[in-house]
Amino acid sequence: MKKILVTGGLGYIGSHVVVELQSSGFEVVIIDDLSNSSLDVLDGIFDITGVRPIFEKIDLKEKELVIDFFKRHSDIDGVIHFAAAKAVGESVDDPLKYYENNISSLVYILKALQDFKSTKFVFSSSCTVYGQADELPITENAPVKEAESPYGNTKKIGEQMIKDLCNCNDSFAAIALRYFNPIGGHSSAKIGELPIGVPQNLVPFVTQTAIGIRKELSIFGKDYPTPDGTCIRDYIHVVDLAKAHIVALNRLFDEKKSNHYEVFNIGTGKGSSVLEVVNAFMRVTGVNLNYCFTDRRCGDIVSAYADTIKANTVLGWKARLSLEDALASAWKWEKSLQN
Ligand code: UFG
Repeated sequence: MKKILVTGGLGYIGSHVVVELQSSGFEVVIIDDLSNSSLDVLDGIFDITGVRPIFEKIDLKEKELVIDFFKRHSDIDGVIHFAAAKAVGESVDDPLKYYENNISSLVYILKALQDFKSTKFVFSSSCTVYGQADELPITENAPVKEAESPYGNTKKIGEQMIKDLCNCNDSFAAIALRYFNPIGGHSSAKIGELPIGVPQNLVPFVTQTAIGIRKELSIFGKDYPTPDGTCIRDYIHVVDLAKAHIVALNRLFDEKKSNHYEVFNIGTGKGSSVLEVVNAFMRVTGVNLNYCFTDRRCGDIVSAYADTIKANTVLGWKARLSLEDALASAWKWEKSLQN
């Protein structure tokens, strides 16, 4: 049984990936510093899979702790790296926190992997590296643009660091997955997104408004050059996204297929506007949502959706679940939090 380290494995995407890993027969070890997650997630993972993963509370910025971890777990076969701070606005206010959190910790973990000869690495990247792409849908060949935020820059720099390491180390192989907009939760409603404070992302704000925690959803801008005037994104069900990690990992383990360093877009290939999401939510849940239009949010791009041909053909992965499935699961999760 292959043993996989998942850093940030108690977070939103990480926890869904742990479930898919365990369901696919991998043994999982989680490192998380609990800065944006909760130990309760371990119970959720256990309830779904019947297996409690090994867990260690470690802050990856503590270099000595990272080295010590690998000394004790020298049999790790592969790593999926999520541990990172991810609030775009906060990264503008406190850029050094983001460089320290997301870059220093990545250096330490890559260094440890090199020293301990664990050589398969999946990196959690983002479509933010494309900025506002010149052509839609966005292919992996689209130029990586100047980052819109320090957060986005850490993804861009992270990808480059990993690529550089692959270039100088023949035995090291990595895949960077560029996520579009992950939403929803596990169908069991045992795990899901747990935003701290006021949600910055659309769907948690929608569900919190629907349940009465927030009074009103502000739709940021209604005069964008799109059919209904609101921004367009590629919303992908987090369970589909999680499955992409298993396929990526298996590709890295397959010497015949593994290609040293590769990037893949992980999205549905379909763009939906903010208004379409809001209307789909009301249709799927039967709940009326209070919303209003406000000014554009600074830094928002107009439209982004993935060309998924490379992931479909090379990785053999495709998103299966719909926007409606994702919104229904997000609503089920929000309701479960009230019980
Ligand atoms: N939106 C609203 N009201 C809200 C929240 C969001 O109208 O209360 C709109 C935004 O303006 C945007 C869309 O909903 O048009 C999606 O916004 P999100 O914040 O959910 O997602 P973003 O596309 O802005 O950000 C996501 C990730 C980031 C990543 C970025 C890359 O959350 O981590 O994609 O483009 F950097």
